[in-house]
Amino acid sequence: MIALKSRKEIDRIQESVDIVSDTLNKIIEIIEPGITTAELDRFAEKNIRGYGAKPVFKGYRGYPYATCISINEEVVHGFPSERQVKNGDLVSIDIGVKYQGFVGDSARTIPVGEISPEARLLLMRSYQALDAGCRAATIGHRIGDISHAVEHIANLYGYGVVRDFVGHGVGRELHEDPQIPNYGKPGKGPRLQEGMVLAIEPMLNLGTHEVEVLEDRWTVVTKDRSLSVHVENMVAVLPEGPRVLTHANGVILPGADENPL
Ligand code: MF3
Ligand code: CO
Repeated sequence: MIALKSRKEIDRIQESVDIVSDTLNKIIEIIEPGITTAELDRFAEKNIRGYGAKPVFKGYRGYPYATCISINEEVVHGFPSERQVKNGDLVSIDIGVKYQGFVGDSARTIPVGEISPEARLLLMRSYQALDAGCRAATIGHRIGDISHAVEHIANLYGYGVVRDFVGHGVGRELHEDPQIPNYGKPGKGPRLQEGMVLAIEPMLNLGTHEVEVLEDRWTVVTKDRSLSVHVENMVAVLPEGPRVLTHANGVILPGADENPL
């Protein structure tokens, strides 16, 4: 069942997403070589609780932390730890909050210091894929049009598109219907309707699309250990067009060929 949201509900979801965006933006400011991912996680949790919100990942299906932090070949669901981030790392930070009954969920991949040219291209093009997916979230389209838009960008550049994890509806719960794969056929899947709120989250790999889960039973890595980028926006489907609710930095702006990060 797909829960449609009223404008009032979307305004309240926006407040939750704003807390996520603010937290991501602050992490983008403080991240530097030598900081541990546990420090970033503690910082995020404090910032979230400062708003009177709750980190919604913590305890979700037993997930133990406020954030998921996935570095380089890690795709999603990495555990914060005493590992220090270092120059050249691609650090994906995924944050979810619940505030007054509504969920915000977004992710950014942050380049630390100077990253390799191929990492930079993967990062820019992942934001390009995210942007294409969000723009496809219009009334009259179907979920497959979003999926196809993301996959099309990845295919242009020969990147692997992770198939085992997908985007999702979001609102009162973190994971609602429908599922949003990052690959698919235009014109297929559920129709997009006014009031849908979606989390669109491409995961693109430099190499194979295949992934595996580490022994900690959470951390997802690329099978060939190639670099991976994960970025996630929330978007509301409205008659005037898609409204991107996530205002964290790092999305390619219309017409720009440079990642503002
Ligand atoms: N943002 C992710 C998602 O959309 C991560 C949630 S998994 C959790 O599914 F276990 F950490 F909550
Ligand atoms: Co999500």
